[in-house]
Amino acid sequence: MPFFSQSVQHIRSSEIRDLMKLATRPDIISFAGGMPNNDLFPVAEVDDIILNMDPEIKKVAFQYGPTPGYPPLLETLKQYLKTKGLPVDTHHLMITTGSLQAINILAMEFIDPGDLVLTENPSFIGGIAVFKAFQAHIKGVPLQHDGIDLKALEEILETEQPKLLYIIPNFHNPAGIIYSKEKRVKLLELLKDKNILLLEDDAYNELYFSEAAHELTQPVMSMNQYNIPMVYTGSFSKILGPGFRLGWMLAPPDIYEKAQIIKQGIDACSPNFTQVIANAFMQKGYLEPYLNKIRKEYAKRKQLMQNALETYMPEEVTWTEPEGGFYFWLTLPQYMNATDILKDSVKKGAVFVTGKTFDPEAKHNNYIRLAFSNMNINDIDKGIQIISNAIKKNMLAYS
Ligand SMILES: Cc1ncc(COP(=O)(O)O)c(C=O)c1O
Repeated sequence: MPFFSQSVQHIRSSEIRDLMKLATRPDIISFAGGMPNNDLFPVAEVDDIILNMDPEIKKVAFQYGPTPGYPPLLETLKQYLKTKGLPVDTHHLMITTGSLQAINILAMEFIDPGDLVLTENPSFIGGIAVFKAFQAHIKGVPLQHDGIDLKALEEILETEQPKLLYIIPNFHNPAGIIYSKEKRVKLLELLKDKNILLLEDDAYNELYFSEAAHELTQPVMSMNQYNIPMVYTGSFSKILGPGFRLGWMLAPPDIYEKAQIIKQGIDACSPNFTQVIANAFMQKGYLEPYLNKIRKEYAKRKQLMQNALETYMPEEVTWTEPEGGFYFWLTLPQYMNATDILKDSVKKGAVFVTGKTFDPEAKHNNYIRLAFSNMNINDIDKGIQIISNAIKKNMLAYS
């Protein structure tokens, strides 16, 4: 047996993955999966696109394409990102195989073993896994209700030189929060002249529930007046379907050049087939009406979960009401362990993801992530009741 590489030697099946195997009963109510709702996918629109596609474009769809992306999609996407104030004229756009690939490419481009990478705490498990695979030393910076804790970040920067800071300012996964405008501006001021790559992951940008929240979603990159080295990533996963495996990266020319060479070696190009469809979806004007539809549906689900939480949760459990996205992030009293609660909930028929999963140092476990996006809407109330009963039972054991 050949020896494993250093980067995979420490990979273990997570406790959570093992627990989830127990949760495959058909009657289980799952708040675990952070994915869009199967019944909301724009199947009819995509049928229409495929049935009416020019045969020459169909042939293109079957073929390899240029590494940076299908040129008509790059152009369409550029116009779309321009409406968000993003610097598409000075930066280069690249289509990636999901935005997770963009994070992988950047990790390969910038991280040497032992390099310090800062993430928010909590942070997206996919991002944490990538940085770990590249053997970064990861430090979590606490997240507050309006964004990253700038004081904590400033303290770290006084003594250390991180390579990269990874943030998810809009409808955070898992914390459900959105950065205030003030925090976005102050973060940029703090990073001025520090020579740290700022990676802005904006996978949930479009999933706002109100106009007030919409206004807050302005990307940090669009406010970068100090020329801080920055890369912006986005995704079709939440606005069309994760099965398309399409994301993008907007990067300064020097970062883009190397990223392109790296991508060439990974998969030569992202699927041309889905790029052709995604382009037609935007060109035919299907995106905006579809977004209006899903924003309403997710807002409705959020409200149902909010009502259930208010009805059933003990007062010691707190959360920030999400203004978009897929998640509620519950804070339990510090002495509690979400894994114990999960074990109980699974037995009674509801699953969620424990806080530790999203902690880059895998320490804090008095948190629970509840996704309201992809379960039967009629099960929300019952599922929350089950979890809340498990929490109450656990609390009694400590009293
Ligand atoms: C914050 C965040 N970034 C990136 C991704 C990855 O998305 P993609 O499907 O584009 O790779 C996800 C998926 O859940 C996410 O929550």
